Amino acid sequence: MTTKDLVAAATAVREQAYAPYSGFAVGAALRTVDGEVFVGCNVENAAYPEGTCAEAGAIAAMVAGGGSRIAEIAVVCGGDLVGTPCGGCRQKIREFAAPDVVIHVADLQEIKLCFTMDELLPESFGPDHLDSFHKT
Ligand code: THU
Repeated sequence: MTTKDLVAAATAVREQAYAPYSGFAVGAALRTVDGEVFVGCNVENAAYPEGTCAEAGAIAAMVAGGGSRIAEIAVVCGGDLVGTPCGGCRQKIREFAAPDVVIHVADLQEIKLCFTMDELLPESFGPDHLDSFHKT
C-alpha cells in the first residue's frame, strides 16, 4: 500500500468517526511492517474523558489483528489548522514504532506535514527503558 492509499484509508474511515460533542472527525490508518493495514476513527462519549482518538482505535485494531510493529501511519483531520496527533497518541504510537517511522498528517485534500516518530516525541520513554531496568 502506498502512502497515498494509506491517506485514502484514513480519509475513508474518518467518515465513521463518532464525534457528536466536538464535531471534529479524525481518521487514522497504519501499515504494519508486515504490510497489513489497520484503521481507526475517534469515538467520543457523553462522559467526555472516555472518548478515544482515531490513532488509538487503529492501534487497538492492529493489536487485535495480531500486528505489532508500525511502519507508517496517516492521520486525517478537517479544519484550516493542521491537526497533529495529540500527546497521548504520540506515546501510544511510540510503543509500536521505531524512531524513523513516518507519521503523515493530512487534511481532506492532501498531506500537510510529515514527521518521524522521533520528531513528534523526542527523548521518549518506551519499552526499552523497562527492559534495561529489569536487566539490572
Ligand atoms: N482526536 C483524535 O482522534 N486524534 C488526535 O490525535 C487529536 C484529537 C480527537 C479526539 C476528540 O474526539 C476530537 O479529536 C477533538 O479533540
